[in-house]
Amino acid sequence: MTKFNICVIPGDGIGPEVTKSACEVLEAVGKKSGHEFVFQDVIAGGCAIDQCDDPLPSETLEAAKNSDAVLLGAVGGPKWDNLPGKKRPEAALLGLRKGLGLFANLRLAVLFPELRSASPLREDIVKDGVDIMIVRELTGGIYFGERGTAPSDGVLEDGTPKGMEAYDVERYSEAEIERILKVGFTIAMQRKKRLIVVDKANILETSRLWRKVTEKIAPSFPEVAYEFMYVDNASMQLLRQAAQMDVIVTSNMFGDILSDEAGMITGSIGMLPSASLGEPGKPGMYEPVHGSAPDIAGKGIANPLATILSAAMLLRSSLGLSDEAAKVEQAVRAVLAGGYRTVDISLSKDDTILGTKEMTDKVIEAYLDL
Ligand code: IPM
Ligand code: MG
Repeated sequence: MTKFNICVIPGDGIGPEVTKSACEVLEAVGKKSGHEFVFQDVIAGGCAIDQCDDPLPSETLEAAKNSDAVLLGAVGGPKWDNLPGKKRPEAALLGLRKGLGLFANLRLAVLFPELRSASPLREDIVKDGVDIMIVRELTGGIYFGERGTAPSDGVLEDGTPKGMEAYDVERYSEAEIERILKVGFTIAMQRKKRLIVVDKANILETSRLWRKVTEKIAPSFPEVAYEFMYVDNASMQLLRQAAQMDVIVTSNMFGDILSDEAGMITGSIGMLPSASLGEPGKPGMYEPVHGSAPDIAGKGIANPLATILSAAMLLRSSLGLSDEAAKVEQAVRAVLAGGYRTVDISLSKDDTILGTKEMTDKVIEAYLDL
C-alpha cells in the first residue's frame, strides 16, 4: 500500500463540484486497490482573490509543490473579469504552471462512439472517430514574454496619432523547444508514430527555430513520420480531416487555440481531460479542459466526467497506477454505454439524465464492478 498526497484546488464556478466527484472516484480507487489518498484542499483563482486578495497565495503553490499530484477544477468568472492582469484568477493558472515547471500540456480530444452525433462535423468526416492528442508548450512563448503598454509619438499614414501602444513578446529558446518536442515525439511513438509540428514559420522567427530544433532531434526518433504545418492550415485540416490527425505539438498560444477547436470537434467539452507535466518525478497538474461555467455553478448539473478522466490521467502519469487509470476510463465508457448522460451531453430523449452526484455514483458503481 502506498500513501499518495493529492493537492486539490477546487477553484471557482463548477470547480468545487467536479473536483469533489473526482476525489470520490479516487477514494473508491483507494479502497479497491489498497492505496491511500490524502487530499489537501487549497484555494486559487477568484475565491482566493476574495479571501486574501491574491489569486495564487504562496501556501497554495507550496502545497502543490509538496504533493504527489495536483487536481484542479477551474478558475475564473464574471465577478473578477475587470481586474488588472496580475490580479485576475487566470494569473493563478499561469503561476501554477510556471511555479511547478509544467512545460508540457497534454490535451486529448476524443470523440466517444456513444457521443458521435454531438460533433458539429459531418458524419462522413467523423465516422471513424476522432482521437487527437495536442501537446502544447505551457511555460514559454507569448504567455510569459515581456509585455507592456506605452504612449507612442508616431502617426498612421494619414497623420492620425497612434495613441497608446501595447506589445507582447514571443520568445523561445532551443532548450525549451527541444524538451517539448521530445514529449511530442515520445507520445507519437506510443500512438501512431505520426507527428505534426504546428507553427507559422512563413512569418515567425520563433517558428523557424522550432523547425531547426525538430530537424535536430528527429533522427533520435527514426520511426516517427513528422511533418510541419502552418497553424492557419492546421485549423482548417482539423475540420477537413480530423480523423486523420493524431499527435500535434505546438507553442503555447497556438496550442491554446487549436485545443479549443479540437475540443469543439468532439462536441462534448465536458468530457475532455488534460494533464500538465514537468520534469519526471515532479508533481503534475490535472484538470478538465472546460472552464468554471459560472452559469450552472451550484445547480448540481455539471458534468463531472472530464475531471474524473483527469483523475485517471493523474493515476497513470503521476502515480504509476495505469491499471486503475484504465479501469476508471472503462467505467466512464460503461456508464455512457448504459445511456446515462449529464444534460450537456444528452443527444436523445431516450437518455437517462443524471446530475453531478448521480453521475459520479454511477461511475463509482461501474468501477467497483470491474
Ligand atoms: C486554457 C485557458 C487558459 C490559457 C486561460 C484561462 C489563461 O484558456 O487553459 O486553455 O489560455 O492557457
Ligand atoms: Mg484555452
